[in-house]
Amino acid sequence: MDLFSSIDIEPQRKRVAELTQLIDHYNYEYYMNDRSLVSDFEFDALLRELIEIEQQYPELALPSSPTKRVGGEINKTFLQVEHRFPMLSLGNTYSLEEISDFEARTRKLLGDTPFSYTCELKYDGVAIGLTYRHGILEQAVTRGNGTVGDDITANARTIRTIPLKLQGVYPDDFEARGEVVFPFKEFEAFNKQREEDGDEPFANPRNAASGSLKLQDTRECAKRKLQFCMYFMMLPPADQDPTDKYTRDALYERLQSHSGRLDAARQMGFNVQPYIKECRDIDEIRQFIDYWDTERWNLPYAIDGIVIKVNQVALWDKLGTTAKSPRWAIAYKFKAAQVSTPLQEITFQVGRTGVITPVANMEPVWLGGTTVRRASLVNEDYIRNLDIHDGDHLLIEKGGEIIPKVVGVDLERRLAGAKPVRYVEACPVCGTPLVRTEGEAASYCPNQDGCRPQQIGRLEHFVSRKAMNIEYLGPERLDMLFDAGLVATPDDLYKLQREQLVGLGEGQPSSIQERGADNIIASIEKSKSVPFERVLFALGIRYLGEIGAKKVARYFKNIRAIANATIEELAAVEDVGAVTAQSIHDYMHKEQHLQIIQTLTDAGLQMELSANDTTNELEGNTFVVSGTFSHFSREELKAHIESHGGKVSSSISGKTSYLIAGEKMGPEKLKKAQKAEVPIITEDEYLALIKNEEKP
Ligand code: IVH
Repeated sequence: MDLFSSIDIEPQRKRVAELTQLIDHYNYEYYMNDRSLVSDFEFDALLRELIEIEQQYPELALPSSPTKRVGGEINKTFLQVEHRFPMLSLGNTYSLEEISDFEARTRKLLGDTPFSYTCELKYDGVAIGLTYRHGILEQAVTRGNGTVGDDITANARTIRTIPLKLQGVYPDDFEARGEVVFPFKEFEAFNKQREEDGDEPFANPRNAASGSLKLQDTRECAKRKLQFCMYFMMLPPADQDPTDKYTRDALYERLQSHSGRLDAARQMGFNVQPYIKECRDIDEIRQFIDYWDTERWNLPYAIDGIVIKVNQVALWDKLGTTAKSPRWAIAYKFKAAQVSTPLQEITFQVGRTGVITPVANMEPVWLGGTTVRRASLVNEDYIRNLDIHDGDHLLIEKGGEIIPKVVGVDLERRLAGAKPVRYVEACPVCGTPLVRTEGEAASYCPNQDGCRPQQIGRLEHFVSRKAMNIEYLGPERLDMLFDAGLVATPDDLYKLQREQLVGLGEGQPSSIQERGADNIIASIEKSKSVPFERVLFALGIRYLGEIGAKKVARYFKNIRAIANATIEELAAVEDVGAVTAQSIHDYMHKEQHLQIIQTLTDAGLQMELSANDTTNELEGNTFVVSGTFSHFSREELKAHIESHGGKVSSSISGKTSYLIAGEKMGPEKLKKAQKAEVPIITEDEYLALIKNEEKP
């Protein structure tokens, strides 16, 4: 019997391992890197499947199962604080039937007690808790894993819709909970700016909001125009409430219901959205859900569902809480909006690195508040997997994100005799046969130096902020310079004469006048002092990113050494893999590239590490950095250590040479350092370690 049951269960055991690995991976990317690799719907489906298997076969539930924890890993760089009241999540469902079940169960449990529900929006942002004492914002903490979160008070203070001081009457000690959202309009403007600066855009407003709250530089956070939507008031138990009697009498009557609490909060100065409705029964709840399922697209920020709560606070204790979520509330989650529309044509875009992206051009269709005409088809495999035929009706979907996705084909409407769509074989711009490397999903145009979008893309990269930071040369102006035959490769920029620029693009918004020409020339001149590592990055060598370029520059010290290095020598650099090493080698063995490098060198660009850039003073030392500093941001300090030959580690171990302690250092780090007898030094003591170092 035993033998049989253990054989039977093998497929489930395997599935549990698969699911656990997937969910852990998605969780990690989501919580640590702010990257969503799958839609919420797909993620929830995986988690549900795992929960179901674990319920059916409890012996398969591992102690470390992702179903056992509420949230994700904890961000190490912020001071961690324990929530006074755990931040529970809500039970959630995509099914209206389960909402009916919830309603019926609640009614049954409450018997004759009169009660009502509140329905309100479920904001798709980042949950935080704000502690107010005597009407003053004292602390802001992210949800974290529900028990412990990050102290993000400094960043929260920059959000205009978070009151720093409350108005009118308020309890003397309470927590306001809500969601930080990035409104669509602000998010789009912000992402556009990022792309112009050569930074990776964020996938959706939620990730951007979450990333913003964890910025080290509060000024940067302040620029982002985040909003706080308050949705919950957490009061300490009555016997711990220090509010004076006068205030209590005036206020407490209203704090008996959730809707009363939100009204009171609004008067204290919180941003409480007006879309809350008291409902008596399941029909009213359904109406509210139906209304917002379509109306949600007209809101200025994302919501991903509706939250239903029992309105009478006194009944919450009666209904109680499960391990993870209260029994007096539930969240209904919206399914992604979906429509089908005929495919008209697939066009192919050529990116900066020559990668081809197929784009579906469709009959315009209204979906989730906007007209959709085009959607990415990702790559050749994506089209094959969906088995798209000419003239097919494509199913397109819009989740909480703004970008529509092609998720399938409406097979019933396929035209008789339709053929599978053909993928391009030659570059749609320059006609060069495309290449697809074994094991890679994308095909690309190999004609790097003669294909317009690649040439212009490389120029855009060259002038971008993190590369040469040449201002006043946006994409339109680079197009103009390219078409006028003035600039085809980066070195041409340094041959430009002021007179060639003045009057260029007459009549266009991006035309260049006298002042503009002066600015451009000055900015090009200034770029000559950009450090070598950024010059190397600016060249746009395939696979060589900002960090890789830094490491290669520091290792080889000058461009000649890099050009002469073998593939093995290149691959010996930390973080440089075989593919990147090969790519650098290929780049350096093309006559045309060497010519560009020569012209750039003659123009006076930095082609070697400067003596001020780096020293070896810190070689052999490993540093851990904690807290905030006055001369550096934390990232700058880490770069500083590395540029002097030191190593940076995120955790304290026997190998740590020094802990550099800033303000508000994490207490855990301090304890660990003391225990491991690691010397703890200040920022100034650190600077003194490096001889003749001036403060930045
Ligand atoms: S109430 C104990 N109301 O959705 C009840 N939550 O899984 C506290 N959320 O973690 C939550 N909008 O981050 C509540 N109007 C709303 C909400 C809301 C968004 C989030 C919150 C929570 C999650 C539920």
